[in-house]
Amino acid sequence: MDGLFEVLSKTQGKPLLNSHLFGLFFGLYHKLTGLKILNKPYRIIKNKLVDPHYQTIDRKKPRDTIDELILLNESYPPEQQFEHNILAPILDFFNAGLNSTSILMEWFLLIMANHPEVQEKIYSEISKLDKNFISIKNRYETPFLNSVLYEVIRYRIGTSTAPRVAKEDIEVDGYFIPKGAAVAIITSSIFMDEDYWEDPQQFKPDRFIGEPKGHMERILLYGIGKRQCVGKNLSNDINYLFCSNMILNFKIRSSTNQIIDDSPNFRLNSIPKSHSLVLEKRL
Ligand code: HEM
Repeated sequence: MDGLFEVLSKTQGKPLLNSHLFGLFFGLYHKLTGLKILNKPYRIIKNKLVDPHYQTIDRKKPRDTIDELILLNESYPPEQQFEHNILAPILDFFNAGLNSTSILMEWFLLIMANHPEVQEKIYSEISKLDKNFISIKNRYETPFLNSVLYEVIRYRIGTSTAPRVAKEDIEVDGYFIPKGAAVAIITSSIFMDEDYWEDPQQFKPDRFIGEPKGHMERILLYGIGKRQCVGKNLSNDINYLFCSNMILNFKIRSSTNQIIDDSPNFRLNSIPKSHSLVLEKRL
């Protein structure tokens, strides 16, 4: 476990808020109620996250998103402060960022457990970098890993955009959509489109090598347009850091040594069925 937490804290301790978030990003979302974080978000976010920032902020050099929110907050009237301008955005980040990020990580680990040959190919690529920590800057040197990440997304990360409302009556591809109807994009319908992808139901790790144009345009993981995911860049960085450093440090396998059922459960997102994994530290 020590090795695991070292990798996690390095890959997720810094990016935006602070190290309180690293554990949360690793799929412990369900356990948050046990920690009473969801029950008492106000007190915990204020005492543990925001107050320490107030005490140490340098107004000329904001360090992170919370410092930026504090500065933004100061330009608003007192009745709008804290709850509107600091607490609400932080809760938005928790709600929107935790589940989605942890699901992607769960899928990556499950798929790697089912494809040890892919793990070894990634390991061979990243171990050539001769580093004990893979950073974002290495992304351009790891085309195979990048392709695997896109393929994990295409293969199993089905999400929905937030609904939009049709401004007027419109017909799309023979379907009539009346003015006022709610419309959303379900990504799995694009990711599994047989008219476009060759063998869409198969996991093909090198499908995205060279980032073919039509392929990339179809990876609408974070939605599209002005309301697309605000955490997109952060999320891409976290995913890369997590996945690369997990493979650098661990071999991942099923606890039963059997192929794990990788068919998705569809809720709001596509999530893996219950399974258990073993992480063996690489020497
Ligand atoms: C793998 C991880 C993630 C996925 C798959 C994901 C996906 C999405 C999608 C599909 C939307 C709706 C976009 C649309 O309607 O066009 C969205 C919105 C949003 N996401 Fe993410 N997201 C992820 C990570 C994050 C993270 C890490 C954060 C913040 C720390 C975040 C914050 C948000 C917020 C605040 C919105 C609402 C934006 C708005 O309505 O203006 N997301 N995300």
